[in-house]
Amino acid sequence: MKILGIVIFVVVAVSAAAGTGDNQKWWKWMSSSSGASSSSVVNPIVSSSVVLPLYGNVYPLGYYYVQLNIGQPSRPFFLDPDTGSDLTWLQCDAPCVRCTTAPHPYYKPNNDLVPCKDPLCASLHPRDYKCESPEQCDYQVDYADGGSSLGVLLNDLFTFNMTSGARIIPRLALGCGYDQLPGQAYHPLDGVLGLGKGKASIVSQLHSKGLVRNVVGHCLSGRGGGFLFFGDEVYDSSRIVWTPMAHDRMKHYSAGSGELIFGGKGTGYKNLFVVFDSGSSFSYLNSHTYQGFISLLKKELNGKPLRETKDDYTLPLCWKGRRPFKTINDVKKYFKHFALSFSNGWKPKAQFEIPPESYLIISSKGSVCLGVLNGTEAGLQNVNLIGDISMQDKMVIYDNEKQAIGWSPANCDRPPKSNYMIIKTSNANQVAIGKVTSIL
Ligand SMILES: *[C@@H]1O[C@H](CO)[C@@H](O)[C@H](O)[C@H]1NC(C)=O
Ligand SMILES: *[C@@H]1O[C@H](CO)[C@@H](O)[C@H](O)[C@H]1NC(C)=O
Repeated sequence: MKILGIVIFVVVAVSAAAGTGDNQKWWKWMSSSSGASSSSVVNPIVSSSVVLPLYGNVYPLGYYYVQLNIGQPSRPFFLDPDTGSDLTWLQCDAPCVRCTTAPHPYYKPNNDLVPCKDPLCASLHPRDYKCESPEQCDYQVDYADGGSSLGVLLNDLFTFNMTSGARIIPRLALGCGYDQLPGQAYHPLDGVLGLGKGKASIVSQLHSKGLVRNVVGHCLSGRGGGFLFFGDEVYDSSRIVWTPMAHDRMKHYSAGSGELIFGGKGTGYKNLFVVFDSGSSFSYLNSHTYQGFISLLKKELNGKPLRETKDDYTLPLCWKGRRPFKTINDVKKYFKHFALSFSNGWKPKAQFEIPPESYLIISSKGSVCLGVLNGTEAGLQNVNLIGDISMQDKMVIYDNEKQAIGWSPANCDRPPKSNYMIIKTSNANQVAIGKVTSIL
């Protein structure tokens, strides 16, 4: 069960974790390597977005990923887009102390270190953090599923195609991770793409360079794939359900206090702290709410031709039918929609609908399994997570400027509907639109 997204704990005191000796060695290796120069080509383009295709699925793969081109010359890397954390890092040949299997050769670092006094470095550390050595910024990220990365921040060039047709090559900070522990789930990627609220997040960095609005969104297809975007040009805001972002100490994307709605009716499970996390494959409810939710489901299944099975370990709760199921369509009729409803003082209430295809999977054994899990058991304490499974076939938007989270049903199999982009770019050249389609 991958829960990459939510970083429960971020302490970046590497000196304590790895020992000063390791840092020293790493730094010496860096100094002796012939680092490439790092000038950056930045065209300040206002009002344009970046759209990137996504690959992967909730089941059987268990994650989505995006390809980014990083370095000079640029090389492709597969990263897990994670709205639950800020730092982007790559498995890095620094040399690597402990790295995991990756689809590409490890990233070769340059010499362009982010100094410790950089505000971006400070944003990854507790307030009272003291620099071990002023010329470098060490980091450590720990994820909820036990995975972690430890390394040093440096700057390198990222290549992006804008929806305007322009190419940008900004110099952005990323982590060179030379000591990784895998989480519980097998997750063979080159790194993580941090999309959280913090300064270090890629979208915040692009925004601070004047390249895009500080907005990130995704559209995960239930058939696999989809797209990820930075900026606000790929949707029509008036067709999105918006709710204000709640503020929490951990700076997660939360819609605040929600209520569980089941089959269109209130359940009395209220004041749920709900976080949207693209780094988590499944959804999680706290123990109390989870208990209530599964009793409601089980009650609904009374008299239906489904029975709980103990010989399918795909997920903790699975049901079998008379014959193996092939698709969700075979079982949809037995399960109700549920929803999370957010009030937050805005009217009308914003309801996040979760139909059966966004909380169930059909396992390889042909059973139907529940993709909503016990968060307390997973170590999430009282946090409720909306993971990839429940965000499928919706556009989900995190607008850090309006401080709002929005969603709308969408067809994520196609690139963002060009209509809106054509309207917005009609006074730019039409060739640009052709290019947009070609990157997807
Ligand atoms: C940008 O677009 C060009 C031309 O369409 C394409 O060859 C290239 O792979 C794209 N680059 C990225 C980073 O997507
Ligand atoms: C959820 O997990 C907690 C902690 O492991 C456990 O005490 C509780 O019984 C579980 N709840 C359900 C409904 O399984």
